[in-house]
Amino acid sequence: MCANHDLLPSSPSRRGFLFTLGLALSGLAATLAGIPIIGYIFGPVRGRAGQAWIKLGSVGNFPEGQTRLATYENPFRVAWDGPTAKIACWVRRIGGDQFQVFAINCAHLGCPVRWFPQSRLFMCPCHGGAYYEDGSRASGPPPRGLFEYEYEIRQGQLWVRGGQLPTLAGPV
Ligand code: FES
Repeated sequence: MCANHDLLPSSPSRRGFLFTLGLALSGLAATLAGIPIIGYIFGPVRGRAGQAWIKLGSVGNFPEGQTRLATYENPFRVAWDGPTAKIACWVRRIGGDQFQVFAINCAHLGCPVRWFPQSRLFMCPCHGGAYYEDGSRASGPPPRGLFEYEYEIRQGQLWVRGGQLPTLAGPV
């Protein structure tokens, strides 16, 4: 003879249900907490993908021994970017095909730096950061020199690899 409870379909006990619920919520919390960590680990790979080669113009537009402002259209612009899709950078032509192309944003908090040919310094108007003409840090709060773009000369045209605003977490 069998007992009554053997005939009933088995149902999870309250303790079992709470245990399973606890496990599921812990798994969900761990997943949510892990997303930023995964983003941090794979951020540099993703950042590289958001870049493209952009033509800055003829090499002849940049006289030797001078640093000039240039702008380019962000290749990853969206319709509502408006004028912010125009990105400025500083082009230093050392001589011949030797260039340095600097991001305009300060390595401290991103303010646009200005070039002063008289002192041969880049100065940041926000907190007084200063950089030498080769982009290295001269003084002030910036923790490093200016961000530099990769460049290439193709058939007399200067090209840079850019697109996203460089940051300390994702330099160009
Ligand atoms: S943003 Fe340039 S020094 Fe702070």
